[in-house]
Amino acid sequence: MKSLLVINSSAAREGSVSRELVEFAVDRLLQDAPQAGVQRRDLGTHPVPHLEVATLNGVRGTPTTVVEQAARALSDELIAELRAADTIVIGAPMYNFGVTTSLRAWFDHVLRAGETFSYSAEGPKGLMTNKRVIVIESRGGLYSEGPAAAIDFQEPYLRHLLGFIGITDVTFVHAEKIGYGPEARAAALVKARAQIEALAGAALAQAA
Ligand SMILES: Cc1cc2nc3c(=O)[nH]c(=O)nc-3n(C[C@H](O)[C@H](O)[C@H](O)COP(=O)(O)O)c2cc1C
Repeated sequence: MKSLLVINSSAAREGSVSRELVEFAVDRLLQDAPQAGVQRRDLGTHPVPHLEVATLNGVRGTPTTVVEQAARALSDELIAELRAADTIVIGAPMYNFGVTTSLRAWFDHVLRAGETFSYSAEGPKGLMTNKRVIVIESRGGLYSEGPAAAIDFQEPYLRHLLGFIGITDVTFVHAEKIGYGPEARAAALVKARAQIEALAGAALAQAA
């Protein structure tokens, strides 16, 4: 790992499970690669604005107004951060069975034809290759198994969005049943930390 991008998207600061696990993952990854550069993007404290009439052309069209040019500049900045990273850790709480709107707004600025994907005769092609992503999903309920698995719109959606821009090396870490009380929360954190440890160990073995 040479360059790490850390993205948080929880609207909570204190007590945020995804933030805690993101920090754990960052610490663990940096233990093995202390020289790596770290870029942070906190969508909870500094949200990327939603696209609107005044900004849409800045990201999806040809910017002409000052506001559109600012939207294009932000999109360029977010894409540059992504492009520069070989490893990305994303803190992704489940909100209303999907991703947070802040994370969705980030994707709205980052999925840009000619930059992160291209259209060809064979269809769209992702351009952000050779990147590894760890997504930490915190959820109030249980979706990785059982009856609610069918209403997990978060993980398949994230897998598709990342795959669309060429990122296929994606590992999801689950911290589930956070809403089931303190014991369930503590157990979820222990399990997720063990998964992160194993991931970091596997990466080291691969690099050796
Ligand atoms: C606005 C909002 C919507 C939520 N929607 C869901 C949901 O659909 N399913 C679920 O299991 N938990 C839901 N939760 C619970 C969160 O997924 C859970 O608290 C998780 O730990 C949040 O991540 P964080 O601790 O990093 O902030 C919701 C929480 C909030 C604040």
